[in-house]
Amino acid sequence: MAGLSDEKLFDVRWQRSEHDLLSSFRRLYGEKPKLEARLKALLLKRWLERPQDLKDLDLVRDLNPGWFLSEKMVGYVFYVDRFAGQLRDVLDHIDYLEELGTTYVHFMPCLKPRPGPNDGGYSVMDYGQIDPRLGTMADFTDVAKALRQRGISVCIDLVLNHTAKEHEWAEKAKNGDPRYQSYYWMFDTDAEPKAYEKTLVEVFPADAPGNFTYYSNFKKWVWTTFNEHQWDLNWSNPEVFLEIVDVMLNLGNKGADVLRLDAVAFMWKRLGSNCQNQPEVHDILQALRAATRIAAPAIIHKAEAIVSPRDLVPYLGVGRHRGREANLAYHNNLMVQFWSSLASQQTGLMTQTLRSHFPESFVNACWATYIRCHDDIGWAITDEDATAIPGMSATGHRNYLADFYSGKFSGSFARGDIFQENAATGDRRNSGSFASLAGLEAALKTKDEAAVIMAVERMLLGFALMASFGGLPLFYMGDEIGLLNDYGFVSVPEHAHDNRWLHRPKMDWKKVKSAQAGTGPEGRLLAGIKHIITARKSQSCLGASSPCRIIDVHAPAIFAFVRDNEEGRLLCLFNFGPDFVAVSESVLRAHGVGAFRDALSGGIVPVSNGQIAVMPYGRLWLE
Ligand code: GLC
Repeated sequence: MAGLSDEKLFDVRWQRSEHDLLSSFRRLYGEKPKLEARLKALLLKRWLERPQDLKDLDLVRDLNPGWFLSEKMVGYVFYVDRFAGQLRDVLDHIDYLEELGTTYVHFMPCLKPRPGPNDGGYSVMDYGQIDPRLGTMADFTDVAKALRQRGISVCIDLVLNHTAKEHEWAEKAKNGDPRYQSYYWMFDTDAEPKAYEKTLVEVFPADAPGNFTYYSNFKKWVWTTFNEHQWDLNWSNPEVFLEIVDVMLNLGNKGADVLRLDAVAFMWKRLGSNCQNQPEVHDILQALRAATRIAAPAIIHKAEAIVSPRDLVPYLGVGRHRGREANLAYHNNLMVQFWSSLASQQTGLMTQTLRSHFPESFVNACWATYIRCHDDIGWAITDEDATAIPGMSATGHRNYLADFYSGKFSGSFARGDIFQENAATGDRRNSGSFASLAGLEAALKTKDEAAVIMAVERMLLGFALMASFGGLPLFYMGDEIGLLNDYGFVSVPEHAHDNRWLHRPKMDWKKVKSAQAGTGPEGRLLAGIKHIITARKSQSCLGASSPCRIIDVHAPAIFAFVRDNEEGRLLCLFNFGPDFVAVSESVLRAHGVGAFRDALSGGIVPVSNGQIAVMPYGRLWLE
């Protein structure tokens, strides 16, 4: 029996998303019928060559477009080489991924990078090839298929803002080809770079100051926001858009389920602005999203924009982009507020920030929640939010956090480092692994068993927070067994200049074994994280489509929110301090909690004198 032909299916999907695609495309590039025809032909070509198993997956996900919002979703993020070796070796660890409850893995940058320093793989010289150290594109396709068969989707990075200066396009540009020179931002003199610099910020001020690089061999200034070897693409050129659509659909056809769109905030340049979060970025993201909905609807997009609260929300689609932009975006503010509250033992700023800038839910989109990742922590705390807290100044608090997490602040439990101090602005960010920042490194060093327990509890607090806040939780490789800072990075020449490698240690499979045997802090962590994940999966109200309503329970160390849907309600409480905290029973009852059963421990929380007690760093999911 003949069903819908591939061409017919394409037509239906084109009609569904044509407006989303062309309205934003036209806002960016004007009405260009020839270009639009090329775009449509490109989508059709990539759709027709899409393998049948992925076309089937397209249908499945078209029928269940909210698949990634489920409470059953759990992400795990790793560098292929540091986790397993080569791509095919990942398959040897599927059991471990399943043991953790993983349904989504992010292979950190795995496309062919430039030789030498490559910003951890974010300096890509060929989007069509896998890093040869990890294997081939055929390996990738096979591994993705094997993982999918075990219920695990695969996310890979697609770097949108820049290519390596060794990319074929950049090579042609260097050789004077005007077509490819217009793919980048190139200037004959320093007049324009100077004009732009007036309002730009520096991403790597210590390592790669400035945003432009002069090349005397071909006599041009090139826009290089990040490192000198990363050339910013010129997205105001529609040819760049077409090229990237092609790259994107090719990667989808090779088996990627989720595309992590890197550094999207920087994609549009506007003189007189900081060239971040420009409105056109949202049109580009909407158009890219519509393109995949037409030619590879199984794929979802994750935006990486590590920006302030106000600028972050639009990446999940607001206003005219509602339900049409990225499906996932990193909630860097939740991460920042976790660390801020942990250091200050006060959650006022966290409640204020997360309550005033963030909607309770999104359409066809949700947060990627995380506590640590491969990058530094930038203290995105605004003056506006800090001044709402009596006695707090944004600069003072940011400085305190930078000192606290580099271990400079006396009495700090954290061990970490300063990343990219900006001499001009005084801005400082931090590096360090979850475990080291949470106190495990210092506690183990001093053999202080009580401090070890506290560090483990702080980590479990973070895991429980990211598993319940609302979104897709992304656990970062090794955190589940408490991997400490890797100080050995300084002896690797390509890494020594970048202390983010401090928190990118190699997976320690011996430690996994001892954790599985229940030994040491790693045993407590692994058991704890598995327990949290199992509890999450059994609570449908923790799915990302239920709103997250932040509440005030009148206890300064406690952060709290309510999650509910038609099937149930949880009131989640997190104690950010090292002491027991009493919370009033009547306040909790006012938010609809009656029985005080804790979905995490399974036990009933006793009420005495009209109060419940929350343990040091305790977390309760009250039903
Ligand atoms: C993203 C990556 C970061 C990288 C930067 C430039 O922010 O997460 O690691 O340095 O993009 O590509």
